Parts: sequence; structure tokens; C-alpha cells
Amino acid sequence: MSLARVISIANQKGGVGKTTTAVNLGASLASAGHKTLIIDFDPQANATSSLGFQRDPTRKTAYNSVIMGDPIARVAIASKPEGLDLVPSDKNLVGAAVEMVAMERREYLLKGAIEAVRERYSYILVDCPPTLDLLTLNALAASDSVLVPIQCEFLAIEGVSELLDTLMRIRRTINPSLEVEGILLTMYDDRTTLSKQVAADLRSFFGGQVFETVIPRNVRLAEAPSHGMPVTIYDIHSRGAESYIQLAKEVIANAQKRVGQGTERANSGTGAAAAAGASDGGSAVPSSEPSGSGSS
Ligand SMILES: Nc1ncnc2c1ncn2[C@@H]1O[C@H](COP(=O)(O)OP(=O)(O)OP(=O)(O)O)[C@@H](O)[C@H]1O
Ligand SMILES: [Mg+2]
Repeated sequence: MSLARVISIANQKGGVGKTTTAVNLGASLASAGHKTLIIDFDPQANATSSLGFQRDPTRKTAYNSVIMGDPIARVAIASKPEGLDLVPSDKNLVGAAVEMVAMERREYLLKGAIEAVRERYSYILVDCPPTLDLLTLNALAASDSVLVPIQCEFLAIEGVSELLDTLMRIRRTINPSLEVEGILLTMYDDRTTLSKQVAADLRSFFGGQVFETVIPRNVRLAEAPSHGMPVTIYDIHSRGAESYIQLAKEVIANAQKRVGQGTERANSGTGAAAAAGASDGGSAVPSSEPSGSGSS
């Protein structure tokens, strides 16, 4: 069996649909027969509650995995639909971001934790917090690609350009093989000219990096989390459900294309960034975090 494709869902801007995408893309991939793990890597724990898991201080979370070294296999819990697992989060994860600073190879803690379960899943989706802190850096260091949801609103392009610059910096430092899975237009309202204009601008600017699937603004998507289920279970016939099923098809098709191209990524790490020793992390890796870690 092959290794899971690890996809971070990231955008430092808040409320753009990261969690909605992690939960509903994850559910759609699982329903299509691809075993999927969602890692809730945000202390807000919205993905955890969206999947119906109430707060429970006795339950192990991503914190136990990355800080305490508990195997992910023992922290993950089965969710719905069948084939979807979740590594839950809770507010402890705030502490993780702080404790990580003093740890060795602090950007690679999640990557290390994921390694042991990569052959159990086809996809691992990491729901990131709306920050570019050590949690998000860990997610990006552990990922094959990043999926960037953006809301179709004024100044969307500036926000994405900034984020893509950051991603380039991450490729030069902690993860030279990080790809852009795609830019996803979310909360699209086809009744407004603004939505249409922003979508057109993003497509002409970022071209093929933008997913063909567009996620509409849909009340079912907003309601489903309070019922503790993905929209594909809450209301499979809604436009919201249809759009995430469509997105899953695109993600699967892209993965198959990549397999067809064979070892494309074998040549992708030959630049100076790769020479910086990113394959092994280590002390040569610059960090974009304020230093003061004193880690040996
Ligand atoms: N396509 C949509 N249609 C309607 N409501 C949506 C849609 N996508 C997301 N929402 C709602 O918008 C809010 C923000 O979405 P979400 O939590 O997914 O964003 P986020 O990027 O994860 O936020 P944060 O940065 O706080 O983690 C939520 O209340 C969610 O239910
Ligand atoms: Mg979120």
C-alpha cells in the first residue's frame, strides 16, 4: 500500500472556510472509499466539535501525540462516515505551540508523529489555526501540499499573494517539496458581482492553481457543524455537499495524475533549498519563529 498524501488546509486569515473544508473534504474522500485522517491542529478545536465530539478532558488529543509522543494510532478516533478518523484537538494545543519552542527539531514534531500512520491512510488532512505559528509550520513541514481556502471578497488577491510568498519561504527552509494542492474559492455568492469579479481576478492571476470547484455560500454548510456531522451526512443533496464531493473528485484526480507522472518529485528538490539539508532538518534549518529556544 502506498503512503497517504498529507495536505495542510491553511490560510492565516481567519474564518475563510479552513475547518469547513477539512471536515467536508475529509468526509467526501472517505465516502469515496479513501481512508482519511483529519488532524485537528487548531486549539479552537472546531473540526473536533464539527464532527460531533464534545469537549472531554480525558480524551487524548494532537497535543499528546506531538508533545508527549503518544502514537497517533492510539490518539485517533473513528468518526463518521465510515473510513474517516480524527485526531482531536482541545485548548491544550495552545500549550503545545509554546512547549515546542524549546524542543529539538521543533518544526518536525508533527511530521515525526504522522510517519507511523502514513501507510494506513490515503489522505491525511491537517486543519491549521489562523496563524503562522509553530503549529502551522509543523503542519506545513509534514505536508506534501497545502490547500488554501479563500473567501471571495475584496483584497483577496493581496492575502493570497502574501501567503504564497510565505509558502515559498517554507520551501526554501523547512520543506523543499511542499506543493500547492490548490487555491479554493469558498463562500462564493453568484448573486453578487463582487464574488464574480474576485473569482475572475483570482483565476486570471493564479491560473491553474485555482481549483475548478467553487464552494458556494450555503446555509447547510453553516448548520451541519452544530449537528456534529459533515454536510454529506447532514444533507447530502445540498449544494454545499455537492460542491465538496466535487472537490474530492478533483483532489483524487490530481493524485492519480501525479502517480501517472511517476517520480516527478524526485527532481523537485535539487535547488539550493534542498542543499540546505532540509531532508534531515537539523540545525541548518532556519526558523521563522523568534529564536530563544536554546535547543541543543
Ligand atoms: N461555504 C459556506 N457557506 C456558508 N457558511 C460557511 C461556508 N464555509 C464556512 N462557513 C461558515 O463560516 C464560518 C467560518 O468557517 P470555518 O470555521 O470553516 O473557517 P476557518 O477558516 O476554519 O476559521 P478559523 O480561521 O477561525 O479556523 C463558520 O461558521 C462556517 O460554518
Ligand atoms: Mg478553523
